[in-house]
Amino acid sequence: MSRIDVVVPLAWSEARFALRLLDQRRLPLEETWIDCATVDEVACAIRDMVVRGAPAIGITAAFGMVLAARQAEREGAGAREHLRAARDKLAATRPTAVNLFWALQRMGELAEAGACADELLAEAKRLHAEDIEGNRKMGLWGAARIEDGMGVLTHCNAGALATGGIGTAIGVIATAHAQGKRIHVYVDETRPRLQGARLTAWELSRLGIPATLICDNMAASLMARGRIQLCVTGADRIAANGDAANKIGTYGVAIAAHHHQVPFHIAAPHSTFDLAIPDGSHIPIEERDPTEVTDWAGQSTCPVGMAVFNPSFDVTPASLIRSIFTDRGEIAPVQTQNVLEVLGHT
Ligand code: MRU
Repeated sequence: MSRIDVVVPLAWSEARFALRLLDQRRLPLEETWIDCATVDEVACAIRDMVVRGAPAIGITAAFGMVLAARQAEREGAGAREHLRAARDKLAATRPTAVNLFWALQRMGELAEAGACADELLAEAKRLHAEDIEGNRKMGLWGAARIEDGMGVLTHCNAGALATGGIGTAIGVIATAHAQGKRIHVYVDETRPRLQGARLTAWELSRLGIPATLICDNMAASLMARGRIQLCVTGADRIAANGDAANKIGTYGVAIAAHHHQVPFHIAAPHSTFDLAIPDGSHIPIEERDPTEVTDWAGQSTCPVGMAVFNPSFDVTPASLIRSIFTDRGEIAPVQTQNVLEVLGHT
């Protein structure tokens, strides 16, 4: 298997005691890095989508807690209270990706136990390293389902930019490619923020993986023409029964895939599962600014005052998902019992 050369969306700088983030809003035209030295800067970066993708959001928030702890130490503030406020600030940034709350819970427990900034930093680095290793394992599970010559469709960006490592869905694709399988990837552009066109297409071209960019409304037609043999996407929150929230449009892809008997898979680490909720109806769906839909490059593309609905995610029911690739194994068929068994919760 050849090496997978990934882009890195975030890096901890010891010298500056700051989190460096690749500004994903500017990709693929510019590779600009932003330094976050305070928890407020980290919260802004998550909300404004400088950094995005469920696992990357979680890792970023973990480093945000480190910055809050250091600030409390510097100011001689009550560390626990300061860190609780920091946790609330970070938790309020984006509601759907459960990795955010998972990471905050992990860091928050340590903080409550009296950990200092250096101890929290070690934990944030551990969490980051675990994500890298989890991506690698998930890639192997998923790649086993990809055959030589397949056309593979993906939606949004579930690549290195969205995680700590090689990515989830793109990690699966990159692993299959590194194993020498000849695959062709169809990339949904992913309206309204174009994560597919701007980020996934960019990552795949850097990886040298053959890919074709399509508008979201072309996927079903490509399936009808027999060009797609498998779909794989990431997820932002998966309920105990396997219902999975991912970028808006994913549900439509899964319906089209079901109609054309194309297997639809999800790739996600254990940190993306929310076992406290029985099914997808409990997943909070983020709604974003209407201008994401009405404007393009600062220009309005519709009549002024037009009503807009802009949910950032939708929920694909477990019944449409052939299997879920995780860092702990493959969940198939997608049912509560199997989710709990593979994740080691039985
Ligand atoms: O709004 P975004 O760009 O954060 O949405 C990202 C997605 O929907 C990804 O598919 C998901 O987070 C999986 S990331 C490995």
